[in-house]
Amino acid sequence: MDATAATATPFPTPPPTPFSTLIRVASHEQHTAAETSAFMSDLLGGRLGVDAFTRYTEQLWFVYRALEGAMDTLRADPVAGPFIQPELARTPELERDLAHLRGERWREGLEPLPATAAYAARVEECARTWPGGYVAHHYTRYLGDLSGGQIIRDKAEKTWGFSRKGDGVRFYVFEGIPNPAAFKRGYRELLDGVAVDDLEKQRIIDECKRAFDFNGAVFRELGARFPLTA
Ligand code: HEM
Repeated sequence: MDATAATATPFPTPPPTPFSTLIRVASHEQHTAAETSAFMSDLLGGRLGVDAFTRYTEQLWFVYRALEGAMDTLRADPVAGPFIQPELARTPELERDLAHLRGERWREGLEPLPATAAYAARVEECARTWPGGYVAHHYTRYLGDLSGGQIIRDKAEKTWGFSRKGDGVRFYVFEGIPNPAAFKRGYRELLDGVAVDDLEKQRIIDECKRAFDFNGAVFRELGARFPLTA
């Protein structure tokens, strides 16, 4: 067959890979690293005290305050707006958990670890200046919480005796999302329909990897404070 005939052959073009698949596959390796980090392994292995769980919950509060402090301004944004869904909001739940874990004056003396401060600052920066980057951080946290978060809750209840879905682990309980699997399907459809070009999608994927790196850094600092496997 000559070259002309070869180019004329009508090969069907494969459908483009959905963005939700691209972002999941791109962060797969880092996901495994996060799951198997020393701190997470020790936490899920029941080898740490409740003080380590409290420290972790404190860090989450700083991160979600950054994510959710931007909700009102981003709601009307064409890229980030569709992701702003009130049933995801975690700050009130984290505050109830912290009141349980640290007492009513939970806010006193609460400081982020350096890695947490850097993570929250980056989320705030994206929220202010780059809606696509904000989507990357939104995806990394909320889809994770709806998935592996449930494993963490179950383990925390068993290890430290929290009442099922009660104070201490409310962060992991999405009262407004009775069917997480269906919600996650809808969320992936939102990702697939995100109104940006391919170059911006690649930048969002890169920011998602950065978001995983920030989480890894927080785990490392927590691991250094609660060394066991670390
Ligand atoms: C021990 C800790 C963790 C466990 C056991 C865990 C477990 C899981 C599991 C089982 C899924 C799949 C759920 C599904 O297919 O619907 C998942 C998805 C996910 N996890 Fe984790 N995870 C952990 C930590 C993390 C961390 C630290 C992050 C990032 C902050 C994270 C982010 C995600 C994301 C973004 C997804 C959704 C992937 C997608 O379908 O697009 N996970 N996790």
